[in-house]
Amino acid sequence: MPESRLKQSILVVFSFGFISFSVNFMEKIKTFTLPKLPYDYNALAPYISEQQLKLHHDKHHQAYVNAANAAFEKLDKAHSENTDIDVKAISKELAFNVGGHLLHSIFWENMAPAGKGGGGQPGGAVADVINMGFGSFERFKKEFTMAAASTEGSGWAALVAHPCIGRPLIMQIEKHNVNVFPAFHILMVLDVWEHAYYVDYKNERPKFIEAFWNVVNWDRVNKNLSLVK
Ligand SMILES: [Fe+2]
Repeated sequence: MPESRLKQSILVVFSFGFISFSVNFMEKIKTFTLPKLPYDYNALAPYISEQQLKLHHDKHHQAYVNAANAAFEKLDKAHSENTDIDVKAISKELAFNVGGHLLHSIFWENMAPAGKGGGGQPGGAVADVINMGFGSFERFKKEFTMAAASTEGSGWAALVAHPCIGRPLIMQIEKHNVNVFPAFHILMVLDVWEHAYYVDYKNERPKFIEAFWNVVNWDRVNKNLSLVK
């Protein structure tokens, strides 16, 4: 990868859901890497099978990582050679693939094996925030399920929050980057692209959504909420 050509050392802290990191822009520019799952490939069965999870993580998530890195390289090449670039096209490419990488990274973390950190009802601050924002956990579950089920084409349901509004909201993301509220913190997501469930549930997305509730890692959702400042 090319090195940063910035002359000043600029330390910036980024926060995106549970991902919070600082970057010194004088360091070598980083590329994305596929994160390891926090559990075994068969750990979410029977709700998400080993075959389904392996395909989703190893092939689909990896593809977004690769495509985002390729777009970065394209940008860097144009910058170092001072050649023109189709800014509109690469912006769309980056929004799609960077979004894909980050959403999947959050998704793996907000799941855990059923009965071993996954499933049940939320506790702690998340329970309070959900009750405040939706009236009850059951009501929230119903609305989140509806958002996931009615996402047009490929997309995500996300529980999000931001101090500017003082309440949680459900965000229905199309693809990886459409309908996103800028700067809102993602507390949990559910991937409802067909590639997330087709091996296990064929075209029956509602069955996959129902199964998801058995593997939600509420401790992680609580941790994500604790990062909202
Ligand atoms: Fe996916």
